[in-house]
Amino acid sequence: MRPSGRTVVCGIVGDPVEHSMSPAMQNAAFAARGLDWVYVAFRLARGDAEACARGMKAMGIRGLNVTVPHKVDIMPFLDSIDDVARRIGAVNTIVNDGGVLRGYNTDAAGFARALEDQDIVVRDRTVVLLGAGGAGRAAAFSLADRGARLIVLNRRVARAKALAAEVARATGMSIEHGPLSDESLQQWLPPASLLVNTTPVGMSPATGESPCPASFLRKDLAVCDIVYNPRRTTLLRQAAERGARTVGGVEMLVWQGALAFELWTGVQAPVEIMRSTVEEELGRGAV
Ligand code: ATR
Repeated sequence: MRPSGRTVVCGIVGDPVEHSMSPAMQNAAFAARGLDWVYVAFRLARGDAEACARGMKAMGIRGLNVTVPHKVDIMPFLDSIDDVARRIGAVNTIVNDGGVLRGYNTDAAGFARALEDQDIVVRDRTVVLLGAGGAGRAAAFSLADRGARLIVLNRRVARAKALAAEVARATGMSIEHGPLSDESLQQWLPPASLLVNTTPVGMSPATGESPCPASFLRKDLAVCDIVYNPRRTTLLRQAAERGARTVGGVEMLVWQGALAFELWTGVQAPVEIMRSTVEEELGRGAV
């Protein structure tokens, strides 16, 4: 749809932001739903979160996705923050309701939706989570909130310990932690039914790497990898070769975007179209 004087504006703020898949994905979704809406990327320098919030209000920008380095910095400038985002300590989606800015985090719910979509159950199951960075935090809260027994493994074990303690305090779940090493994978994977990678290990160009030795993978160990470039990481390929269910990073990207789309528009997201758009972009080597 050609932009008009009535076109509603949404976007993403971050730095860097030029390789984001979200403009293609969200514009395809707006078009599929016949909405006179447009989604653009705004490069926003660190330290400019307050100006961004004021600008969003002043210009009537309906919705923003927020990415590195602003997910935490933007929070003081919002009028309300939903419980999930507050507990994770990061906002990835803002809705501007007539000048009232509401913050959400769709990474956690998007992650859960991506698992549900593959019929992967987490309640009362043991889940080994690799990584304790921003993505790891969202996954940890999502999993613990949904009743998983969680083990957080991280290269820097102090971060794993801190995240495990924080999520345990917030959710009342008891959470184990340890270093990300072959020894601890060997210790923790046997009772697990899901392995989640939130580290960048395996990402292009080091596509031959995997955070977990292939010999530890099994048919009854589902594997979820947040890396989406390449779509089929070494970890996912080796899990699939053993007959395990796999969920790739594209799914998480698509579902967090679908939930943001729904918060802004109130319209059900065209998930299939969003997925095929991201896959097309990846195929084009856009990242
Ligand atoms: P994100 O927001 O994408 O999660 P991040 O906050 O920088 O990014 O976190 C990156 C995560 O990947 C961290 O858990 C990091 O481990 P450390 O806390 O020990 O740094 C992990 N990570 C990054 N590179 C890694 C590597 N080569 N091997 C293992 N873990 C790695």
